Amino acid sequence: MNNREKWGSRFGFILAASGSAVGLGNIWKYPHMAGENGGGAFTIVYLICILVVGLPIVVSEFVLGRKTQLSPVGAFTSLAPNSNWKWVGMLGVSSAFIILSFYGVVGGWTLKYTFISLMGGFNELSGNPDLSGSLFSSFIAKPFSPIFWQILFMVLTIFVIVQGVKGGIEKWTKIMMPTILIILAILVIRGLTLPNGTQALDFLFKPKFEDLTASSIVLALGHAFFTLSLGMGTMITYGSYLRSDQNLLTSALWIILLDTAIAMMAGIAIFATVFAMGADPGSGPGLIFVVLPTIFPNIAGGAIWGTLFFFLLFMAALTSAISILEVITAYFIDEKGWSRAKATIIFGSFVTVVGIFCSLSMGSLNITSFMNMSFFDVLDYLSSKYMLPIVGMLTGIFVLYQWGIPELINELRIGMKNDNFNENTSIISGINIGIVLKILFIISASVIGFILINEIIANITGSPIIG
Ligand code: PHE
Repeated sequence: MNNREKWGSRFGFILAASGSAVGLGNIWKYPHMAGENGGGAFTIVYLICILVVGLPIVVSEFVLGRKTQLSPVGAFTSLAPNSNWKWVGMLGVSSAFIILSFYGVVGGWTLKYTFISLMGGFNELSGNPDLSGSLFSSFIAKPFSPIFWQILFMVLTIFVIVQGVKGGIEKWTKIMMPTILIILAILVIRGLTLPNGTQALDFLFKPKFEDLTASSIVLALGHAFFTLSLGMGTMITYGSYLRSDQNLLTSALWIILLDTAIAMMAGIAIFATVFAMGADPGSGPGLIFVVLPTIFPNIAGGAIWGTLFFFLLFMAALTSAISILEVITAYFIDEKGWSRAKATIIFGSFVTVVGIFCSLSMGSLNITSFMNMSFFDVLDYLSSKYMLPIVGMLTGIFVLYQWGIPELINELRIGMKNDNFNENTSIISGINIGIVLKILFIISASVIGFILINEIIANITGSPIIG
């Protein structure tokens, strides 16, 4: 246990964990979701979801990892030996495998688009979304090109993980996260100083409650979960490399703050550019790969802004991808006694091969026809809609009923430097922290459970309870 790899510093851990959280979810998904679902009204709901549903699970994952000094399967097994809880860990590791398969494909797209922009390739797309759309759809459907870029992306991911926790993950996120923040800040300033750029602020942040539907609320919840990398043991694994001297509550709050701030900055940078150039803000998921390439050439220095933007997207995807591969690697190190290099290379390659089938399923070769979706979409759907929330909910239930809130509080206290903090500490007179946490966990697990049932009912009957 003592020779387990460790983070070099608290700052390094916070950057690594926020690197996991900040990813395609923040830069690609959040801006268009907020734009389409009531702007500020969506953002308010999303923040509530992050704090009420997300925070308890982030803290639980960190605590479970640090307490056991093990990755998910070992963590559940050591706190509940000979029980079925280890399957929750197994489901987490399986989700990691599945998510990384298709995440690597999109990671490859971000590299390809960085390269196109660098070569001045967006020039011919200027003001022509149809051409840009067909370029994008023909690229992702090609048999070789996207696979080449996906393999390159996966090789980089494997390269970082082979170097270990401190020498790989921490070292690289310490370079990439500040770079992401700096590029984003430059893009925000550039966007807001373009004519009409400030319309982005209204669009994103002015609450339009009439646009907020029940399904927006479901969306905000699901997204809160995905964006914090919950439900597959990433945060358990990262927590397991911690020494006991850290305040996990404040670390979790920092990560949430960074994740949210970066999502909002990305939204401002993107929509400021869209409004300044008179493009359509409602173009949904195609916004990034289809609309942005058509408007960058019209801005002075557009090739630079375009390249910076896609490079930023690539780094955000990479810092998330490494956290996913680490879950798989840590499982084989902890449970099977493999070396880091062997686990990473073998399973990194395995994931890459499954990813190749995801990429091919967008074009010539679709190996499943489940629910009429491509193999890529099936993996995305199963993992984000079912596997992550199930593991998240069960983690909450584990803390509530198997391990116990008092144990959670005991572990949290280590590092808080407050020996008087215990389950009977009262927050407001008569109300103690044990009860507050219990209620919070019950709300969190029930809300996730409700979302799951809602999704299942929607699939069986064709109409959800809400949404
Ligand atoms: N949080 C990442 C994002 O926003 C995605 C992710 C999910 C990463 C689950 C790790 C685990 O893109």
